[in-house]
Amino acid sequence: MINFGFSPHIEISLDNVLHNLKQIQSLANPHRNDIMAVVKDDAYGCGAVPIANTLEKHGGVRFFTVARFQEACTLRNSGITSPILVLGKSTLEQIKEGWNKRIVFTLNDLSDLKEWISNQLEVRFHLNVDTGMGRLGLLPSEIATFCEQLKFISGIHFEGVFTHMARADEPNTQSVDRQLSILRQALAYIRSQGLSPQHIHFGNSATLMRFDIKESTLVRPGIALYGCNPDPAQKFPLNLRPIASLKSTVVKVKQVPPETEISYGGNYKTSSTTCIATIALGYAHGLPRFLSNRGEVLIKGKRYRIAGNVTMDYIMVDVGIDPHISVGDEVVAMGFQGDDCISPDEIACLGNTIGYEVLCHLGPNIDRIYLLNDSIVFNEKGSGF
Ligand SMILES: Cc1ncc(COP(=O)(O)O)c(C=O)c1O
Repeated sequence: MINFGFSPHIEISLDNVLHNLKQIQSLANPHRNDIMAVVKDDAYGCGAVPIANTLEKHGGVRFFTVARFQEACTLRNSGITSPILVLGKSTLEQIKEGWNKRIVFTLNDLSDLKEWISNQLEVRFHLNVDTGMGRLGLLPSEIATFCEQLKFISGIHFEGVFTHMARADEPNTQSVDRQLSILRQALAYIRSQGLSPQHIHFGNSATLMRFDIKESTLVRPGIALYGCNPDPAQKFPLNLRPIASLKSTVVKVKQVPPETEISYGGNYKTSSTTCIATIALGYAHGLPRFLSNRGEVLIKGKRYRIAGNVTMDYIMVDVGIDPHISVGDEVVAMGFQGDDCISPDEIACLGNTIGYEVLCHLGPNIDRIYLLNDSIVFNEKGSGF
C-alpha cells in the first residue's frame, strides 16, 4: 500500500465499477443491449482512463462515449480500442483527425452536416434527436431535411440514432413515453427513406433502471457505473456500490474546555470539556463546504459529525472526552470503513444536490489510487494500463 503520510487521498474501486456494470447488464438484454459506457468529464471525476480500460479489458464493454474530442483522443492513446462517440460539437479538423482514430461524432446541427458534405469529409456519426431535452440535437421537424441531405452522399457514415431523456429519474413520469414516441416517429421516417442506422440508444441510468429498453441496441449509463442513483433521494432497483472513497487522517487531537468555538465563524461551540480531532481534509480536496456542521466522517468504524465550518484543508470533529482516537488514524469522509459507508448520494442529499456533482468535484490535485482485486493497478502518476 502507498503511504500517503497525513495527506488526503482518493481511492477508486475498479471492482465496484465491474460490480455495477454487472448490475446494469442484469437489466439489459444480452442479445440486443450492449453497453455504451458514459465516461465523459473524466468519468464523472473518477478517472476515465483507468475506468474505461477496466470496463473494456475486464468487463467486455465495447463502446464508450465522452463529451469532447480531446477526451476521446486521451482514451484512444491510453489503449482503448472500442469505438468512442463524442457527444458534443466538434471542429472540422477534429472530424478529419477522428476518422483514422475510429472516433464517432454526433450530428447535433443540420449546418454541421452541410459542412461535412461540402468539405467531402469522411465521418462516422450518430444523429442526436432532440425529443424533449432542449439542449443539443436536431428537432423532429428537421429530420426530413436531414434525410434529404444525406441521400446519395458517400463518405458520411450514418451509424446511429439517439436521444437523451430529460426526466427519467422522476417517478411515474410520462415524459419518457412522450420522448420515446417522438424518437419512434423519427426512426420510422428515417427508415422509410431507406436509411438504416445500426445503433439506437436512449437509456441513461434512470431510463434503463425504470423503463423498457427493448427497442435500443445500446444502453448509455453513466452514474450507475459509478455507484450512485440518478436522484439520491429515491430508491432505484439496482444494488449499486459506490466506487469513490475520500480518505485522510487525524493530524491533531486536543482537549478543550466548554464554550470553545471551532472553525471559521465559530458556529460550533463545545458544550462540555471534550476532545477535538483535526483532520487533513477540506473543500480543496472535494469535501463540500455544505457539510459544515452537518456531514459525518468515519473513524475506527464510528460516525462523527463535522464540527463547525469545513475549511480549505481541514475539518474538525468533536470526538468526546475519552475518544481512543489518535494522530494518524484513518478518516473516511466518503466511502466504506468497516460495515458502514458514507455514499456520495448521502452527501448529495445533505446539500440538496446530486451524486454526479459530488463526484465531479473530487479533488484533481490529491493522490489517487485505483484498486482491482485488492491491488493498486493505477495511480495518479499514470502508471498501470
Ligand atoms: C447524452 C448523455 N447520455 C447519457 C448520459 C448518462 O446519464 P446518467 O449518468 O444519468 O446515466 C449523460 C449524462 O449526463 C448524457 O449527457
